[in-house]
Amino acid sequence: MAGRSGWRALAPAGLLVLVLAGSVASAQAPREAEPNTRVPEGDRGHAAGAYPDRIATSPAQDAATGFAVAWRTDARVQAPRLQIAPADDSPDIGEGRPRVVEATTRPLDTRNGRAHQHRADVDGLQPGTLYAWRVEGHRTWSPWFHFRTAAADAAPLTLLYFGDTQNQNTSLVTRVVRESRRWAPDARLALFAGDLVSGGGAGMGADDDEWAEWFEAASGLPEDIATAPAVGNHEFHQAHEDTPQETRVLSPHWPLAFALPRNGAPGFEDTTYWFDYQGVRFVVLDGTSILDLDGGPAQARWLDHVLTGNPHRWSVVQIHQPLYALRFDRDYAPLREHLAPVLRKHHVDLVLQGHDHGYGRRPLDEDARAGTPQLVVSVVGAKQYRLGPQALATMAPIGEDTQLFQVLRFDGPVLRYEARTATGRLYDAFELHDDGDGGSKRLVETEEGRIAPRRCTREASLKGREDRCWE
Ligand SMILES: [Fe+2]
Repeated sequence: MAGRSGWRALAPAGLLVLVLAGSVASAQAPREAEPNTRVPEGDRGHAAGAYPDRIATSPAQDAATGFAVAWRTDARVQAPRLQIAPADDSPDIGEGRPRVVEATTRPLDTRNGRAHQHRADVDGLQPGTLYAWRVEGHRTWSPWFHFRTAAADAAPLTLLYFGDTQNQNTSLVTRVVRESRRWAPDARLALFAGDLVSGGGAGMGADDDEWAEWFEAASGLPEDIATAPAVGNHEFHQAHEDTPQETRVLSPHWPLAFALPRNGAPGFEDTTYWFDYQGVRFVVLDGTSILDLDGGPAQARWLDHVLTGNPHRWSVVQIHQPLYALRFDRDYAPLREHLAPVLRKHHVDLVLQGHDHGYGRRPLDEDARAGTPQLVVSVVGAKQYRLGPQALATMAPIGEDTQLFQVLRFDGPVLRYEARTATGRLYDAFELHDDGDGGSKRLVETEEGRIAPRRCTREASLKGREDRCWE
């Protein structure tokens, strides 16, 4: 008995020694960069199955009367159905007679085997109305989700904007998406500025696990909120690399993962589109094709045409690559050459961008009296760059080593913009005011409550790269 008591008395001290030894060991162990996905080598857990998954809603060209849904199943499912009815408090949705929309189906072969990607376009809806809908799998259905159509005319609109997610989506993007929804539970639209996944020329369909992780990170958002992504360079891969025939080829995932409006620039229909949402015209461009595939003239003409027909007070352009670089070793002169005259001509209010993994904001023209359009670069994911001297001298605020999201609120003549960090702290804020003269909106900075700009404090990333702060 005495012996047991003695062991009990010694045990806490012994444990303390072990704990201390453990913490010293972990502090001294060299740290290694984490892989891009959390999928174990050889795992096929993200193969398609009977249940509908990777479900995403996107706005129709007129978001007041329609939307479209993309989803995935295994290859047993061909032309599945979408059911929809006005949402009601009774669980008897549609009273047994929901409207049925038949999907179109295309196969997608990836490292996880063959999947069937489905797309259903729903039109003829009532504006400003809450609908319940679900999509079909193999002898099963998704949950019933809710989707509210946009108002017929201008009305207050809250949206979320995300820079590149790209890396370690499940591990580190999840928390940002979840934090964003705490700050904007009323958001009706989600913009993603491209490079949703890293892919990186790994081959056709090799990035399927990364797409699985993007949908895991965004879980609940693309089902509930109209999702409007721009294509990034990582949604292309290089073909004929290091030969005179080298070119970029669009990932087979891109045109299937989202059911985007099919109203794009001639020759770039899979990667450009526009839509109207409650008094705002949104135009989404393909910067990779402008920079690498001679798409500048065609996209600039199309942008001019789409903005010429804009009857609304507001216009927002989303493009992956920024007009002005954050990194010291990058420049995007063709974007400025082709797009800047059109942005000026139509008094575009905002250009939302990504690609250079940091934060930076500036007007298109340094001497712009009104301060518009405002150009923003932001990043969500794990890869973080170091900013170059040009960006540091011409942008404010700037940011490094910081995961961010944005909440935008359009309300009559005022747009309120907020950038928040992964923990919800206010990083940047401004307003644009419409003075009613038909010209550029007027910029009003909102300095109060912002935290100080964050800089990188590491010499190099864990992989030894001095141009990156983290990866
Ligand atoms: Fe990029």
